[in-house]
Amino acid sequence: MEIRILAGLTAIVLVLAVWTGPARSDDEIEVEDVTFTEEILNDPEAIKVGAEIWHDQCTHCHGAKAYPGKAPKLRPRQYQPGFVFHRITAGFKGMPPWKDVYTLEERMALVSYIMSKSFSP
Ligand code: HEC
Repeated sequence: MEIRILAGLTAIVLVLAVWTGPARSDDEIEVEDVTFTEEILNDPEAIKVGAEIWHDQCTHCHGAKAYPGKAPKLRPRQYQPGFVFHRITAGFKGMPPWKDVYTLEERMALVSYIMSKSFSP
């Protein structure tokens, strides 16, 4: 009898552990080792794809119409492409990681767009 109760409790604890799950933090996400060549950064097709994703997804928080203070305005002139790629892939504090949402190519396209003149003329 007691064993059954114990087994029941263990099951509940296990279910709760799986359900609430450990929060994934930045450093648990493996960021691919990529190199941003001029060719990738200036690829018009990549910039176009990146712009589409940006307007679809990122402007909720980063856009001019986003609730003030929700997310910082991006300052590409102060960034290296690799930094932007890392932030997008692994997320950062208030921002979720995008690794499971966008393919490698899509995340690289976002970087090409954010670093481009179309983003900040
Ligand atoms: C849910 C709101 C939200 C969405 C959606 C979002 N972000 Fe963010 N983002 C944030 C917040 C908040 C931060 C800043 C975290 C901090 O510094 O505390 C941030 C930080 C960043 C940074 C780093 C900026 C810096 O100066 O350190 C980059 C790059 C970035 N976001 C790109 C993107 C891209 C690209 C997308 C679309 C795929 C996106 N974000 C979507 C909320 C969001």
